[in-house]
Amino acid sequence: MARRVVAQGYGGPDQLALVEYDAPDPGPGEVRVDLRAIGVNPFDLKSYSGAFGTDPGNLPVLLGGEAAGVVSAVGTEANSPTGLVAVGDEVVVFPGRGLYADQVTVPVSSVLAKPSGVAWEVAAGLLLAGATAFDTLDTVGVGPGDTLLLHGASGAVGSAAIQLAVGRGATVVGTASAENQEYVRELGAIPVGYGPGLVDRVRALAPDGVSAAIDAAGTDEALDVSAQLVPERGRIVTIAAGPHAEELGIRRVGGPESRPARDAARLPLLELAGDGVLTVRIAGTYPLEDAARAHRDLAGSHPPGKFVLLP
Ligand SMILES: NC(=O)c1ccc[n+]([C@@H]2O[C@H](COP(=O)([O-])OP(=O)(O)OC[C@H]3O[C@@H](n4cnc5c(N)ncnc54)[C@H](OP(=O)(O)O)[C@@H]3O)[C@@H](O)[C@H]2O)c1
Repeated sequence: MARRVVAQGYGGPDQLALVEYDAPDPGPGEVRVDLRAIGVNPFDLKSYSGAFGTDPGNLPVLLGGEAAGVVSAVGTEANSPTGLVAVGDEVVVFPGRGLYADQVTVPVSSVLAKPSGVAWEVAAGLLLAGATAFDTLDTVGVGPGDTLLLHGASGAVGSAAIQLAVGRGATVVGTASAENQEYVRELGAIPVGYGPGLVDRVRALAPDGVSAAIDAAGTDEALDVSAQLVPERGRIVTIAAGPHAEELGIRRVGGPESRPARDAARLPLLELAGDGVLTVRIAGTYPLEDAARAHRDLAGSHPPGKFVLLP
């Protein structure tokens, strides 16, 4: 029997339980993967928090949208975006559902070859935040000569966005807490502390102005400051904000309409990681059965980088 972590009810991490389940034999267009590492993301916590409703019919909630592992069985028509998949291949799985498991059967369309030099933890934590960052940069059209204001720069999405934006020739001013500003600088951005006075601090750091903004923090401050500093509202995007975004006419991405762009980002991201150009810091690893502890740590004030579960 395979094992997976599910949320048996709505609420906090004490709702998580490790249960046995059957990872079925792969059918046409499917493969089975023995997972080596699983990325932990804020969405995983939100999915059973009640933020998206508390319908008892949706229990148990399956968790986990990205992972990496070794193919252990293939169905027919096992052609992935990176070619034909065979038993023994080292792969990344994204996008996925229910990947907090030691074994999963998934559509081959979500399976891509893992670059050989990339560690399991990094491969498992690369694509969800990376594709989100890639999509937001495309959405606001970041390119050479831009000055990008990035809220939540020390986070998983922010860390990827800094590296990708700098690679596109942009200057990045990134908000972070005092303890994470050196990390943001190491990634290539100009760090700035969030909180009262942010507009003036950004103006001082970017005297020629800010041309685009990405909000990965989800605060009203991030939206208000972006709206004050960026001349074109269409060059501001949020992935985390609530209704205040609509009030300001700021675009939010991340729904089903974002899927094609994020799927298309997978190959360039894997290539950049394989070349060592795009890095992912690992903040902590946990045994699969300690998913609740990983969620408590992610919800608190945590060091920058990804949390990863190891089955
Ligand atoms: N819509 C989508 O498609 C999509 C996709 C991925 C993620 N998300 C959402 O985007 C957000 C970021 O995801 P993530 O994986 O990057 O999370 P993360 O790694 O936990 O990063 C969140 C960052 O927010 C910063 N932060 C905390 N309080 C802040 C404040 N008051 N002002 C400014 N920044 C603050 C933190 O920086 P310090 O620790 O330095 O304070 C932290 O680095 C989450 O809400 C997540 O659910 C949305």
